[in-house]
Amino acid sequence: MNSSPLAIVTGAGGGIGREIATALAASHWTVIVNDLNAEAAAQTAMQIIAADGEAMALSGDIGDWPTVEGMYGAINDKYGRTATLLVNNAGVQTWASIDELSPEDWSRTISTNLTGCFLMTKCFAKTACAGSSIINIGSGCNKLAFPKLIDYSAAKGGIEMLTKSSALELGPRGIRVNCIAPGAIATERTAAETDDYNNSWAKLTPLQRIGTPQDVANAVLLLADEKAGFITGQTINVDGGLFSRAIWPIDY
Ligand SMILES: NC(=O)c1ccc[n+]([C@@H]2O[C@H](COP(=O)([O-])OP(=O)(O)OC[C@H]3O[C@@H](n4cnc5c(N)ncnc54)[C@H](O)[C@@H]3O)[C@@H](O)[C@H]2O)c1
Repeated sequence: MNSSPLAIVTGAGGGIGREIATALAASHWTVIVNDLNAEAAAQTAMQIIAADGEAMALSGDIGDWPTVEGMYGAINDKYGRTATLLVNNAGVQTWASIDELSPEDWSRTISTNLTGCFLMTKCFAKTACAGSSIINIGSGCNKLAFPKLIDYSAAKGGIEMLTKSSALELGPRGIRVNCIAPGAIATERTAAETDDYNNSWAKLTPLQRIGTPQDVANAVLLLADEKAGFITGQTINVDGGLFSRAIWPIDY
């Protein structure tokens, strides 16, 4: 059995998570590919293995504690060692005002986008050794309020403080915790959001283009590297400058 370091990527059955998983595998990590969708997780794992990488598909809901404990047990059974990198990427997004948003959708978003990060972090921290790290995938909503995203913004705002609080508590154990806040990123999901998602966000982005899943994966590789060994508790915007833009009453 290979002895390359183990990374867990949640929500890696598609979009940004799949790109993070394949980029880590290409950088010699063995990747545990989690997703709620078992078939999608298996596809990512097969894609990695077809490219001579190492991967294991692990389906399960990150918002459910017994499931999370079971997934860590399965990793230990298969590899007999603990993961040294956790990328909390899984997320869901609704699009509804306070009046429209159902309590069920609120709960699903908070469970996946915030509670899931906490549960995965809690279980990872139980056994993680010094030198391990956690990367949470946040959003511009970590710090800015966007319309019709109240549940998503509440969860991502929570991730901002979950990152800092867990960095504070886990720092003495040598575990770093950081967050990446992607700007507008081209994925299947975002392409379905508006008619011209890519161009409309490129126009607002100082670097004048939409972001790619590779942009986010590159930032994960940077933060996971031991060269980032003194960086913890930070959120890095991977947004082409989008969230540095102040609102202004005239076009600029
Ligand atoms: N795409 C963007 O423009 C953008 C911008 C900012 C932040 N983000 C964040 O990046 C992350 C990935 O976004 P994406 O655009 O790739 O989304 P996506 O919908 O393409 O992928 C999310 C994945 O998470 C999985 N998932 C959902 N609920 C889960 C659960 N309970 N347990 C395990 N897996 C679950 C889904 O099945 C899906 O495969 C999210 O956290 C999102 O908030 C994305």
